Amino acid sequence: MAAINAVTDLTVEGDIGVVTLNSPPVNALSAQVREGLKAAFEAAIADPAVQAIVLICDGKTFIAGADISEFGKAMTGPSLQDVQNTIENSPKPVIAAIHGTALGGGLEVALVAHYRVAVPSAKAGLPEVNIGLLPGAGGTQRLPRIVGVEKALEMVTSGQHVPAKAALAMGLFDSLVEEGALRDGAIAFARVVLAEDKPLAKVRDLNAKVEAARGKPEIFAEFRAANAKKFRGFLAPENNIKCIEAAVNLPFDEGLKEERRLFVELMSGSQSAAQRYVFFAERQAAKIPDVPDDTPTLPIKKVGVIGAGTMGGGISMNFLNAGIPVTIVEMKQENLDRGVGVIRKNYENTAKKGRLTQDDVEKRMGLLTPSMHLEDLADCDLIIEAVFELMEIKKDVFGKLDTIAKPGAILATNTSYLNVDEIAACTQRPENVIGLHFFSPANVMRLLEIVRGEKTDKSVVATAMKLSKTIGKVGVLVGVCFGFVGNRMLAQRQREAQKLILEGAMPWDVDRVLYDFGLPMGPFAMSDLAGLDIGWDPAKTSSSTVREVLCEMDRRGQKNGRGFYDYDEKRNAKPSADVEKVILDFAEQRQIQRREISDEEILERCLYPMVNEGAKILEEGKAIRASDIDIVWINGYGWPVYRGGPMFWGELVGLDKVLARMKEFQALHGDDFKPSALLERLVAEGKGFKDA
Ligand code: 3HC
Ligand code: NAI
Repeated sequence: MAAINAVTDLTVEGDIGVVTLNSPPVNALSAQVREGLKAAFEAAIADPAVQAIVLICDGKTFIAGADISEFGKAMTGPSLQDVQNTIENSPKPVIAAIHGTALGGGLEVALVAHYRVAVPSAKAGLPEVNIGLLPGAGGTQRLPRIVGVEKALEMVTSGQHVPAKAALAMGLFDSLVEEGALRDGAIAFARVVLAEDKPLAKVRDLNAKVEAARGKPEIFAEFRAANAKKFRGFLAPENNIKCIEAAVNLPFDEGLKEERRLFVELMSGSQSAAQRYVFFAERQAAKIPDVPDDTPTLPIKKVGVIGAGTMGGGISMNFLNAGIPVTIVEMKQENLDRGVGVIRKNYENTAKKGRLTQDDVEKRMGLLTPSMHLEDLADCDLIIEAVFELMEIKKDVFGKLDTIAKPGAILATNTSYLNVDEIAACTQRPENVIGLHFFSPANVMRLLEIVRGEKTDKSVVATAMKLSKTIGKVGVLVGVCFGFVGNRMLAQRQREAQKLILEGAMPWDVDRVLYDFGLPMGPFAMSDLAGLDIGWDPAKTSSSTVREVLCEMDRRGQKNGRGFYDYDEKRNAKPSADVEKVILDFAEQRQIQRREISDEEILERCLYPMVNEGAKILEEGKAIRASDIDIVWINGYGWPVYRGGPMFWGELVGLDKVLARMKEFQALHGDDFKPSALLERLVAEGKGFKDA
């Protein structure tokens, strides 16, 4: 065996040269990997004993793409195209042997091999779109030549990982070999290629499938129209589509040039920078400085949930989906029946859409035990409380749990705002108490705020972080404060939205500006969806806010067809003249001089205080890093990923500009806009949040 460099080997087995790549964790195409690959292929091509070449990877995966951490830095070593040319132009057949995931640049390397074999568990995809890019090494020109235009469009704009069997059916893989026997299987395949004198198949020369789509612009028009909602605001899907169009309409080499042009355009823009930042931020969030990876975790084999309302049901589904049995406890039989009924209905609906079999539905429901007795939670490893948001009730529940739960069990609260330390203090085991703040709908939203109390044990933190992965969530560790990270920042935006409609804007102006910014909906549309009457008490109402007045007028939101907006039977919203009048009257009664408010001011007033609040959260140590705050906002509130989260966005705008506007607003509107000390300091020192 000859080592080519630190990450690449070449061995010769009879007439087959085997190039092995070993660059953990995912064999990404770093400069060293590209150097090794090029040199290894040149050596194999030059070796007269070698008749065919197999490319295989050690570790958990085939090449998972370009090395994203190198993007934006000066390039060293050979380019990927250079490596690809060496492989594609090899006079000896090259066989890519794939396990794990062949992604992005990894699949693009496999696509310049003459044949591709894989194990059944392998997957292949071009996920560049997820980091705001497109496959920049010929992927958009070669893929449609194999799988056809429709499938290629789907793959490059969704980034989906295609399982081996489907990849074989599409022609992306040429053969599947036995699991665990990839090396031998690929060598055997290479020998068949030699024995049968198979051609040096180059994907670039396959033209039939792209020609079939030539002169049919409707394929692209329909695809764009069908996905308009999904792609809203993103630049990368459109550039990916243009590349596939180029594959159809231009000769191969011209198509490659167009791909490069569109790739560079994305790479130099802020969207891709934001999405690449988010990729690493999400992985960073899993790392807790004082809770090392080897911290012991507790096995979670059985979960208890208290409260079968909106949240308790959704929370339970996460565990049932992961195969973990759940006992759900209620105080009212009818609420228990209704809650369990909702869980079943959700599963049945998924089954109707074909995403679950009836058997799966029954299996999941079979893991659920409904109960009216807290005592039934005695054998649970984790108990999550999701009862009404009232401290007295939470304390009562935790006091009882303390006497019931087995020693070492984790006691968690799903509270949105209440003090986790105060809840923990009414048990004899505050070290076992933690906040697990799910977001509604809890079975869908990816975010889990993990609230670390003053006394929470490190193993409890480590277990919660691990558990978030098990149930498919992104766990972000936060500290105890009112509203934790997400709701605390949201309160800033909500306050300003309410003030803006009295000063001169209308709810639909505020909503439009935030929707156009990329959020799923604005604050008023959101209130209508949730119900204006949540927390509204008809006995105590006193027309003290616009919302109260609307509730008094029986405008309760979408559920009764009227809230801040009027709704038709299809739930389309229309601005309401009645609401406009309520707002104008309300402002007049309070002697507020209404004025013209620009879209720019709406955006700044709603979002800069959030950035400022994020800075306060950092300064108080309630979040570990600014990027954790961004992960909260992207996964819990639909902040557009291509804007990187509020903290990333604040830096993009310029912290100096944010600070200057906050000061102007403070002078005009008071201390709601008081800048945080951290923001002041960072601007004075010319630093960013990562230096905080
Ligand atoms: N570049 C650099 N680092 C990468 C990487 C990449 N392409 N892919 C993964 N990593 C790193 C992660 O940051 C992580 O590092 P850490 O341990 O220090 O946090 C480590 O590898 C392991 O990654 P995961 O935690 O994500 O491991 P999983 O096993 O859960 O997932 C994976 C593995 C499916 C490969 C996933 O990492 C992934 O989706 N990676 C990105 C794939 C991708 O986007 N490829 C396209 C890159 S762009 C490109 O190729 C451009 C080309 O067209 C020119
Ligand atoms: P909900 O009102 O829909 O459900 C609460 C359920 O708890 C009711 O069915 C009630 O009968 C039951 N319950 C009350 N006291 C109980 C007791 N002592 N023992 C057993 N069951 C009891 O409330 P929701 O919306 O599910 O909220 C629950 C908790 O989750 C609250 O703390 C809330 O702040 C929090 N939360 C709510 C979110 C939301 O969007 N609804 C989002 C995130 C957190």
